[in-house]
Amino acid sequence: MSREEREENEGWNSPSQTLRSSREIGFEFSLVSLQILRMKHSLTVAGLLLFVFTSLAADTNIYHVGPSSPSASTRQGWIDLNKNGKKDTYEDPSRPVASRVNDLLKRMTLDEKIGQLWQVNYGKDPDKRFAAKLKRGEISSFLDGSALIESPVMRNKLQHITVEQSRLGIPVILGHDVIHGFRTVFPISLAQACVWEPDLFQRTQTIAAREAAAAGIDWTFAPMVDLARDPRWGRIAEGFGEDPWLGALDAAASVRGFQGITPGGIAGPDHVVACMKHYVGYGAAEGGRDYNTTEISEFTLRNFYLPQFKAGVDAGAWTVMSAFNELSGMPASASRHTLTEILRGEWHFPGYVISDWGAVGELVDHGVAADTAAAARQGLTAGVDMEMVSTTYPDTLAQQVKAGKIPLAVVDEAVRRVLTVKFEKGLFDHPYTDETRCQTAFLQPDAIALAREAAAESCVLLKNENGTLPVSRETKKIALIGPFADDAEELVGPWSSRAHVSDIVSLADGIRAKLPAGVQLTVARGCAIIENGKARRHLDTSGKIREQPTGTNEIADAVAVAGAADAVVMVLGEPRDWSGEDGSRSTLGLSGRQQELFDAVTATGKPVIVVLFNGRPLAVPEIQKKAAAVLEAWFPGVQGGNGVADVLFGDIDPAGRLTTTFPNSVGQVPFYYNHFNTGRPGTGDYKGNYADGPTAPLYPFGYGLTYTKFDYGKVRLDAPAVKPGGTLTAHLLLANVGSRAGTETVQLYIRALAGSAGPRPVRELKGFRKIPLQPGESRDVAFTLSTNDLGYYDTKGNWLVEPGKYQLWIAKDSASGELAEFEVQK
Ligand code: BGC
Repeated sequence: MSREEREENEGWNSPSQTLRSSREIGFEFSLVSLQILRMKHSLTVAGLLLFVFTSLAADTNIYHVGPSSPSASTRQGWIDLNKNGKKDTYEDPSRPVASRVNDLLKRMTLDEKIGQLWQVNYGKDPDKRFAAKLKRGEISSFLDGSALIESPVMRNKLQHITVEQSRLGIPVILGHDVIHGFRTVFPISLAQACVWEPDLFQRTQTIAAREAAAAGIDWTFAPMVDLARDPRWGRIAEGFGEDPWLGALDAAASVRGFQGITPGGIAGPDHVVACMKHYVGYGAAEGGRDYNTTEISEFTLRNFYLPQFKAGVDAGAWTVMSAFNELSGMPASASRHTLTEILRGEWHFPGYVISDWGAVGELVDHGVAADTAAAARQGLTAGVDMEMVSTTYPDTLAQQVKAGKIPLAVVDEAVRRVLTVKFEKGLFDHPYTDETRCQTAFLQPDAIALAREAAAESCVLLKNENGTLPVSRETKKIALIGPFADDAEELVGPWSSRAHVSDIVSLADGIRAKLPAGVQLTVARGCAIIENGKARRHLDTSGKIREQPTGTNEIADAVAVAGAADAVVMVLGEPRDWSGEDGSRSTLGLSGRQQELFDAVTATGKPVIVVLFNGRPLAVPEIQKKAAAVLEAWFPGVQGGNGVADVLFGDIDPAGRLTTTFPNSVGQVPFYYNHFNTGRPGTGDYKGNYADGPTAPLYPFGYGLTYTKFDYGKVRLDAPAVKPGGTLTAHLLLANVGSRAGTETVQLYIRALAGSAGPRPVRELKGFRKIPLQPGESRDVAFTLSTNDLGYYDTKGNWLVEPGKYQLWIAKDSASGELAEFEVQK
């Protein structure tokens, strides 16, 4: 049964599809507030929690409220989880986590242990459907894809059942996909990565965590850190792009945003547990088809696919998700090599691994497990501690342990990891979420401001002939043409989480809000996003909407609107549900009849500004050729219209840089800047270039223009050679020679000319600086590299820094810059 069918059967919808209307939410909130009002009029939140706690205590007699302290309020108490009237070690918040875990493990039956290794999906009426299992301690976690999760009421109900009515009172942990925002949906991760500011991820994920936690979520299945080199693969939208070094910085920053930066901060009420996914190699799916096989050499795995995961683990990520794909002959969810030898053995990851949705059960489909018992055995012994949704663990583990097929110690170890994270998250000491917070937590002014800033900053200016952009303040008539011009809901991208259509600012609205009186904006759809009455995902109904095919005169009407305007902005792209999970494409152009629309409008001879909304690099050489200006705006989130308008009208200068290569045609992919040199590099015969089209990219990694112009001086090195362990500084004079202020993203690339354990890429990003300069201003830009930055992994995971010749560029992108050379001495 497919995921969608399963969800339908259970009466719920996938996370990326479902939204509740604000009216329903308001209703639920008002019920909560009414109850609260009845209880007491002027309670503070802390006081309210205390009140709830003590009133529960009266009912159940398991809640013991300790001395209150302004910072900790009810968290000073303890809960008699096993209802024996004593404060046992595992119930005592003052004891170290390891002691609490040991104490609890000793008290657990085999069935209770196995219960900790299973996550179920929330579905409809989970408190009724799962009550019996919860009381028996057979469920560790809920995965929520349902609309209910905009309020924590149901989550608390489930928690009350398990805490108060199960033997040991082990709390559940509630997980949900919060990928690029919760109610405040930010630009897709690929867009945010183009800002080249890992700190932005920390800021956006801090807000995503705050909103999600207010809705009762403890754990997010993010960040998605899969390296992707193939834009056919729709999940390229969810990650950071094709560079492992930059991706590692973004991964670590995202983890800090979700989990907090202070030690123990994860237990704070505004933070959620992060989950690094999809471990590992998922982004290399053959043919760009989601879930497809991957073949990745150990050398490439170590140097390109693993570093982002390692960075997230080093930043303290408490969980990791095992991927769906086969990885070089073994499903990633049964790979002891990656899950245990590398993750635990080499990196000392202390948390737990959850499978992707049904991935343990799918070991049978992969053809490596003969039956569900074998699947469970393979998954668990490889290192998958918790099974998501499929039921091989609850169905078979107990029997297999009793039959001696799986050592009890393996089960104990997995349970220990799960309990450790639950203790660290503070669930045993404060299992309930404050039900009032979500009334005010969403779409706060700081969240909206950041969403607008992120939408603007992640725009990448791809072309700007004759200073077409920014739109001149003298313009009196603007034509806004294209199916994305006034379509708000497409802007939130594939993981829209809990966005509501009414929260989203379309580009037409963003522009309208900016126009002074007397300036006319005319909007013409021109054509449908997709044709032939095909369906695309609708945010507010959870279902699909039938797209209205392009009407007979629509293209002609748009041409007429363009003809009458002083400035023509075309808003083109691909539907949001063509990227994200199961969003693979076999072509990379505009969807539907948009190319025809573009050709018709440009045939008027008017300079056309194109804004692109899409979740992947598109192959659009015709747009590059014929448009006067091209602005890549990705799926920019709820404030997309405002942020993109800020850039179009020059209130914010475009500063984004691509983190994925844009191909000229789909035939060029997979395509990435940091490839190996091969034995036959270059152009000409017998060099492996294409006979029927360009071999070069449409836009290279690192590319992006500004509204001003920067000149790069000559690179100067402070020494021609460096000793192992030493440092080297490279300088360059950067000058703003244009007429506007602007920020340049100066990039540092290196190349090691020989690697004894394997070839080194033709270029590797090793640094960047964002330099704001006024017109006429210049500045010395310096990068200091230590020889350790020049290393790479051998197939055993050793970091090698080798003597020899190196090249270096300080450049505006991966395809330009003047070469300098240096040596690392023996
Ligand atoms: C996706 C994961 C996601 C999980 C839970 C899976 O289908 O591959 O990325 O976290 O569902 O929703």
